[in-house]
Amino acid sequence: MSKDSPIGIFDSGVGGTSIWKEIHDLLPLEHTIYLADSQNAPYGEKPAEEIVRLSVKNTEKLLQMGAKIIVVACNTATTNAIQHLRSSYTIPFIGIEPAIKPAALNTRTKSIGILATKGTLTSALFAKTSDLYSRDNQVVEVVGKGLVEQIENGQKDAPQVEQMLRQLLRPMLDAGIDYLVLGCSHYPYLIPTLKKILPAHVTIIDSGMAVAKQTKHVLQSLGLLSDIQLKAPEFFTNGNLEVLRNLLPEPQERFEVSHLEF
Ligand code: SIN
Repeated sequence: MSKDSPIGIFDSGVGGTSIWKEIHDLLPLEHTIYLADSQNAPYGEKPAEEIVRLSVKNTEKLLQMGAKIIVVACNTATTNAIQHLRSSYTIPFIGIEPAIKPAALNTRTKSIGILATKGTLTSALFAKTSDLYSRDNQVVEVVGKGLVEQIENGQKDAPQVEQMLRQLLRPMLDAGIDYLVLGCSHYPYLIPTLKKILPAHVTIIDSGMAVAKQTKHVLQSLGLLSDIQLKAPEFFTNGNLEVLRNLLPEPQERFEVSHLEF
């Protein structure tokens, strides 16, 4: 493993490209390899043991590809599997957790909403963080049932998604939230629709930038930051290539996007 080795990133599907974008913007010289396990999406409704098994499978693939660090760009996989991964491998792992802390510190209405998968909201890791911040605030947790499937099907802007969101957000709006925390790496793709539904004073927070900064910090501290761009970002999916391509910025000739069974 050296400075020139790639940053490996995996997600249950295409949503983690929202995290990849932040990493690529902050660390443009890094070679990144993204694995979309769309064949097994969503992870959010699966039992914890299954999420651990899939996370190990993705990790093994990224290690075969020479990754120097692995970013678990999936909240459900982080909350259910990162402890297992960290204790099983020597390579550093960066995880993604819902950004409850900044919302809890800044809320004026003392009411914050968290939209995440069932797998994240029922995990022990999430419960620990949520307990800490619900002492002084009302934390309204809502499972974003069906949203990941819509995004994986390329339907993020479809009218049915707006209808689903209107229903899901109702208890949060009734509780007077002024912060909405997105606890799933797929959900940043819903921000344009969320903005149509939420009152202007509600701030939406996701964790992408924090993950990118943490990745930089860990690579820097290990002397593993790349100083020259050697290869274009690579994306592999075991699902639909077009859905993945449609989420990547233009011009796409800059990226290698391929199908891979893993
Ligand atoms: C899922 O696969 O259900 C969602 C991924 C995430 O939690 O970020």
